[in-house]
Amino acid sequence: MTQWIWMNGQTIPMDQARIGVEDRGFQFADGVYEVIRVYEGQPFALNAHLARLWNSAAGIRLNLTIAADELAAAIRKFIELGGVREGMIYLQATRGVAPRNHAIPEGVQPTLLFYSRPLEPMAAPGQVGVSLISVEDERWKRCWVKSIALLPNVLAKTAAIEAGADEAVFVDGGVMQSGVITECCASNFFAVMNGALVTHPVGARVLPGITRALLLDLARGQNIPVQERPLTLAQAKGADEVFISSTVREINFVHAWDGVRIADGRPGPVTLSLHRALHGRIREECPMG
Ligand code: PDD
Repeated sequence: MTQWIWMNGQTIPMDQARIGVEDRGFQFADGVYEVIRVYEGQPFALNAHLARLWNSAAGIRLNLTIAADELAAAIRKFIELGGVREGMIYLQATRGVAPRNHAIPEGVQPTLLFYSRPLEPMAAPGQVGVSLISVEDERWKRCWVKSIALLPNVLAKTAAIEAGADEAVFVDGGVMQSGVITECCASNFFAVMNGALVTHPVGARVLPGITRALLLDLARGQNIPVQERPLTLAQAKGADEVFISSTVREINFVHAWDGVRIADGRPGPVTLSLHRALHGRIREECPMG
């Protein structure tokens, strides 16, 4: 089956898509991205993703030359034409092609593209547990920008896989020093402590996850106290429940961390309740049928 890609306004077969060698995304990682989930042939939380895309672009002084509603319409049309039922849209915007020079060039047309990848339909809450390893958070201080410059994340995730774990959790201030947990290499981090949902505030150190924002909202709706505050590694490891969230993962409970079992290796009640509520939200926006 042909894999299609939307690139600068045209939908073409992926194997015909070409990016210039001097595209600044390639040479400087000068770009931003989004990952949007598709359920039942409909994009989930599309407006929130596009709002974050525009924020990220503003954060690197990139002017997207398309209107948000035009891009939303193009994404919906692409999903429909490509027949995507369960999957994700990967979207990337770079500064575009210009002779190599660090300074931001004037008058360059950004490169904007997106394509889809299939994913498994959503798993029942509590089915997928993950193990974490702790790594030093070596990222820049603008983590609210969803930047394509992901080398610290790439290295951290590889270290996790090599250690037999699923995901790396970033610790700001050193693992041995029990620094502060910020987030994971491609997901947000949550701990449940004395009935409250605790997660690091977004901003310099943490991406404003779309799933994270939804979960905080759903927690408040269930009268679960929400605390956006830093936790040290030692504090977080003593939590009653630990889970991570992202567009692709939804919620995964954490059953092991640095080789030690967490919360008896089972998903806790708050984790399960929030995951059920998230599925409710997804079904409201992307009904079956
Ligand atoms: N990553 N934190 C980081 C560093 C991330 O890369 C992601 C998502 C999240 C979760 O954000 P959201 O709920 O909006 O997906 C948090 C995507 C899925 C990726 O890089 O593939």
